[in-house]
Amino acid sequence: MGRKTEMIQTTPCVALLLLVGVAFAARSASAITDGLLPNGNFEEAPDKSQMNGTRVTGRYAIPQWEISGFVEYIGSGQKQGDMLLPVPEGAYAVRLGNEASIQQRLTLTRGMHYSITFSAARTCAQSELLNITITPESGEIPIQTVYTSSGWDSYSWAFKAKHSVVLFIVHNPGVSDDEACGPLIDSFAIKTLNPPQRTKGNMLKNGGFEEGPYIFPNTSWGVLVPPMDEDDYSPLSPWTILSTTKSVKYIDAAHYAVPGGARAVELVSGMETAMLQEVSTVPGRSYRLEFSVGDAGDGCSGSLTVQAYASRGSVKVTYQSQGTGGYKRGLLEFTATEKRTRVVFVSMAYTTKSDGTLCGPVIDDASLVSVRSHRRFLL
Ligand SMILES: *[C@@H]1O[C@H](CO)[C@@H](O)[C@H](O)[C@H]1NC(C)=O
Ligand SMILES: *[C@@H]1O[C@H](CO)[C@@H](O)[C@H](O)[C@H]1NC(C)=O
Ligand SMILES: *[C@@H]1O[C@H](CO)[C@@H](O)[C@H](O)[C@H]1NC(C)=O
Repeated sequence: MGRKTEMIQTTPCVALLLLVGVAFAARSASAITDGLLPNGNFEEAPDKSQMNGTRVTGRYAIPQWEISGFVEYIGSGQKQGDMLLPVPEGAYAVRLGNEASIQQRLTLTRGMHYSITFSAARTCAQSELLNITITPESGEIPIQTVYTSSGWDSYSWAFKAKHSVVLFIVHNPGVSDDEACGPLIDSFAIKTLNPPQRTKGNMLKNGGFEEGPYIFPNTSWGVLVPPMDEDDYSPLSPWTILSTTKSVKYIDAAHYAVPGGARAVELVSGMETAMLQEVSTVPGRSYRLEFSVGDAGDGCSGSLTVQAYASRGSVKVTYQSQGTGGYKRGLLEFTATEKRTRVVFVSMAYTTKSDGTLCGPVIDDASLVSVRSHRRFLL
């Protein structure tokens, strides 16, 4: 009784403290944390009064998000005709109809680089890309090729924050006859990308691919790094992925066999995709490129061949895969002809797993040294 009175008496003071606390919290909110965006997996549901069947009718009905156009809220077990619509994570996902979009405001640190990871699946095999905007810039992610047997793939997209508050918009630019034929999307996460540093004894940065997009700790299908324009920021910076529509797969040691460290890249798109990094070189000087070629332990068996190019040199490295993990080292010695040299890796064949999905050789731990300085080091 006496205690309660005391509490009531001190309430104004507590309220003031709370207010000050809130003000501080608001100021420090700029540092977004790595992981799921607020309601990024759509598990917080819209109110039934703001839905008509699966269609979301209220603009602000899905907590933390704003929608426009024909947006559906899909629960696991939901069917379209005879087809069961799978949900990759949790119990709910969202479907974007023709020209529909969903958006969220993000508070970032201006000038920093970030990568967004999310999952998407096509439903009627019609939508072939998603338009991603981080104001003021946008880009397109092809979702044409499916790399998993479930139909769900995770994608990554990187950007530099031009402002501290930005709008993140996912838009389906598709115009299909059936409005309900758009892609399903789920599980949006963000990661701050640290600028890759040069490590001692390696002219390549991020040679072990340890810096890359967010991978959900419990998703077992890796994250695709889609092709990009050469001036776009890469989630695997400074490595860029060149292709028209095909991706490479970023994989983690928790779910795959990785030659070194915690991450590696699986070249899943055959000759259609090149992964490259440009380095400063001295014309006339000799260099030695070394790298690991192996398999991800994901059942991708057969002859997996990677071709590496640098300047006028090239080498083919074939690894005989049982699909259970393992690797060998490849070596390319070349003489630079220019001040900038591109180091390029390409898989030389299309390989599929027994379930029919695309797979390929794993590349990891790439290093480049100047042979002259290397010899001096050995002496
Ligand atoms: C729900 O959608 C159906 C089909 O489009 C429509 O006929 C009906 O009027 C809608 N109901 C409400 C309450 O808007
Ligand atoms: C992954 O873990 C998170 C957090 O523990 C959980 O909410 C989510 O349902 C899990 N997802 C999957 C695919 O198991
Ligand atoms: C992508 O979205 C942005 C912003 O919503 C828009 O300005 C742009 O025109 C869109 N691009 C396509 C191809 O729809």
